[in-house]
Amino acid sequence: MTDDYQSFIEKVYTSLQIDLSQYKEAQMKRRLTSLREKRGFQDFGTYFNALNKDQELLNEFVDRITINVSEFYRNPKRWEVLKDTIIPLLNNNKQELSIWSAACSTGEEPYSIALMLKEYFPNCKAKILATDIDEKVLEKARIGVYQEQALKELPLELKTKYFKQAGDQFQVDSSLRYNITFKKHNLLEDKYPQNVDLIICRNVLIYFTDSAKDNIYHNFASALAPNGVLFVGSTEQIFSPTKYGLQLLDTFFYQKIND
Ligand SMILES: C[S@@+](CC[C@H](N)C(=O)[O-])C[C@H]1O[C@@H](n2cnc3c(N)ncnc32)[C@H](O)[C@@H]1O
Repeated sequence: MTDDYQSFIEKVYTSLQIDLSQYKEAQMKRRLTSLREKRGFQDFGTYFNALNKDQELLNEFVDRITINVSEFYRNPKRWEVLKDTIIPLLNNNKQELSIWSAACSTGEEPYSIALMLKEYFPNCKAKILATDIDEKVLEKARIGVYQEQALKELPLELKTKYFKQAGDQFQVDSSLRYNITFKKHNLLEDKYPQNVDLIICRNVLIYFTDSAKDNIYHNFASALAPNGVLFVGSTEQIFSPTKYGLQLLDTFFYQKIND
């Protein structure tokens, strides 16, 4: 049975370039086994053959791997620190900030930062790159329509100012969209952007093996501009940041140590 899963992992990598061996095995295998069984496949071999022939099944499979939950201002206290401490620090003497929201899912994170800049730093120029491995969530992000649940941490005045309500849906204001570029990017495979002042990468590294995380931290550190900052999720503290040339700046914020 283990061989069945291992060979499935290899075939998925060859056909989709998603390397499941770099995601924590027990968790991923449990998720995929329950999906496979729900669809009535005895083993991963027959499941893979079916994925190759059935787009719906394939979409469902990618959805199961990618866990797309997100929300605006997720963990609001950290976003306060971003506003009160980190952005003023980065904005000091910069013509334009380069910001990368990696594994951005349906866009709540890049829109949160765009909204924060527009509201509190109107003179700060910034370009925001928002990436994810999953094209489907990026498409939703570009459209920018959300359920109220995704906005529950946003202060009411910001919700009213930056969203238009239609029924039970909320359309993000187009003024937040113009400086965001949404693009597909696989953290395990693709080249990283360089000279980035702020990388926001939250609630995805928890799914990866230690060795995959190790590579990603190295890549993030070299992607950062001098004094650049990495903002991670609230269960994702880095235990030996100096190993990657990073130092703790505030809880869940790490700054590049300049050589
Ligand atoms: C739980 S969401 C996190 C969304 C957002 N960052 C937040 O914290 O609210 C995890 C996202 O990671 C993406 N993801 C998973 N593996 C990835 C990879 N190898 N490269 C880039 N993104 C990946 C998924 O598609 C999903 O949208």
